[in-house]
Amino acid sequence: MGKNPVVPFLLIMAMGVGLIFFMSLYGVDQKKEIASEGEDASQDVADFDPASFADAKCVSCHGGNLEGGGAPALAGTDLSADEMKEIIADGTDGGMPGGLVPAGDIDAMVDYILSLE
Ligand code: HEC
Repeated sequence: MGKNPVVPFLLIMAMGVGLIFFMSLYGVDQKKEIASEGEDASQDVADFDPASFADAKCVSCHGGNLEGGGAPALAGTDLSADEMKEIIADGTDGGMPGGLVPAGDIDAMVDYILSLE
């Protein structure tokens, strides 16, 4: 066997295939990174802080510390979590507006109310 003129081409081909393989792995990694960055961003938007939400949307009726004002006290309420969830979601005929808290955040809001004294 002398020099086979095909060998250099095979080598270059092997390198090319290797490079493509490597780049596709790298691309997948980048894709994951981009996807997780997107997740982080949407988490920021979805972050629900019940205390500041209540400051913005509830204190005008329920008092600055939700201790009651025009509307009943929420701090120290006797209502159960389920009763509150229903009232917060649907409102009441007695003047509590429904739909103030996004549905997915009602649990967090009720937990917060129950944490108040
Ligand atoms: C426009 C005034 C107003 C705003 C704003 C308001 N509420 Fe109310 N809320 C009321 C009134 C009035 C009642 C009493 C309703 C009734 O007895 O039918 C009430 C009742 C409630 C109750 C039941 C309390 C009880 O003891 O009966 C809960 C829980 C509640 N509100 C949560 C909230 C939360 C959480 C927010 C903010 C996201 C909020 N409310 C914003 C007026 C308001």
